[in-house]
Amino acid sequence: MQKQEFHKVINALKLGEGEKVKLRGWIDNVRHQGGLTFIDLRDSSGKIQVTIKKQNLTNVNYEEIIKNLSREASVSIEGIIKVDPRAPGGKEVTCNSIQIIGKSEEYPIRKGVSVSYLLDHRHLYLRREKMQAILKIRNKLLEGARRWFLENEYFEIQCPTFITASVEGGATLFKVDYFGRKAYLTQSSQFYLEAAIFGFEKVFTIQPSFRAEKSRTRKHLTEFWHLEAEVAFATHDDIMEIEEDLLYNMVKYAVDECKKEFELLKRSNFEAPKRPFIRMTYLEALEIIKGKGFDIKFGDDIGADEEKVIANQIDRPAFIMYFPKVTRAFYHQPHPEDNSLTLSSDLYAPTQGEIATGGQRIHDLNLLLKRIEENNLNPKDYEWYLDLRRYGSVPHAGFGMGIERIVKWVTGINHVRDAIAFPRTSNRVYP
Ligand code: 4AD
Ligand code: MG
Repeated sequence: MQKQEFHKVINALKLGEGEKVKLRGWIDNVRHQGGLTFIDLRDSSGKIQVTIKKQNLTNVNYEEIIKNLSREASVSIEGIIKVDPRAPGGKEVTCNSIQIIGKSEEYPIRKGVSVSYLLDHRHLYLRREKMQAILKIRNKLLEGARRWFLENEYFEIQCPTFITASVEGGATLFKVDYFGRKAYLTQSSQFYLEAAIFGFEKVFTIQPSFRAEKSRTRKHLTEFWHLEAEVAFATHDDIMEIEEDLLYNMVKYAVDECKKEFELLKRSNFEAPKRPFIRMTYLEALEIIKGKGFDIKFGDDIGADEEKVIANQIDRPAFIMYFPKVTRAFYHQPHPEDNSLTLSSDLYAPTQGEIATGGQRIHDLNLLLKRIEENNLNPKDYEWYLDLRRYGSVPHAGFGMGIERIVKWVTGINHVRDAIAFPRTSNRVYP
């Protein structure tokens, strides 16, 4: 490949006056002024202004080429770097050769179009600066997470998407016709991670989970990216420490690596969260919520409006600990001092609410069987999961974090659908 011949915009901006440069990318904007044409050339690293003067062009007919220099056309150019304090980035390129790689029809993304129009054209909207900035931050959050897992000697494992029994209750299961048998799309890889700790002790996965979630909120997708970890011999307290250290480090990494992107999103003042995170009990949270006039009692789930009350009064992430058994799935370890509570917690981000849920799992076979029956589930559906308690069971704990929820919080966008390249919601499976 002759790739090396070409510069990236970011490297071109480091060159000095008079140096030769070869670039390729897409036309972000084009302006004509007398016999001059200015284009903003964009590649994956940034943008630079290119000035095209008729008499400088050696390779082509000016009039012919100008006709095809429309927005989003792809081009390759050769030219000379010119230092110009008026140009964005302080430099521009005086073009002496240009070639159209692919013409562009009239680019349909215009100012003033509706949100649903942009979503219908997400495959083209993805090129815009805002989407690019959000997705770069998302990438660095995930990179930061993987670095943390690597440093802490976790094993990354990939789990199946087709499954046969619910993890988080039947209501949000997507049914799949699996050659005449009933199967579902996974809601969480937790049970598979639990199986994996017996060989690897500390495991994690980053993969999609699916929820047939009809509610149209700004924080629910039907397909979201789920970062989950499970740790042998860990307690609920241990797992909160782990979540805190991981979240802090992944956010810090993205903040440090994405200064330009945060600036573009007008969010330069966003910082990695303060530590230690807040720890409050479910009962304490209820008192705060009641104090704001809500009618909520022990055993109720914390709904969206109640969640906001807590989210709006915290200056850093907060764990809400010890949810009642009746609000949680069957696999949660009961609290040793109060059997009506579980060793579990939700992690809230300021202004957002829940971004993760975690806790200690039941490791005793008989207790797990009892909880399956109490939840009116069929133990046969959980045979392999029960097996894990038959062969050298150990206390263990884990958690799941929603990547889009974290991206939404960090970038300050107001809907999770913009936290992922191609969102899936109850009313959208295209593009
Ligand atoms: O709270 P959830 O349902 O917990 C579990 O699935 C556990 N089995 C995880 C575990 O312990 N391994 O989901 C975990 C997180 C939520 O806190 C939320 O951030 C995200 O996943 N999440 C969603 N994100 C976007 N859209 C949805 N519909 C989501 N449902 C859950
Ligand atoms: Mg949860």
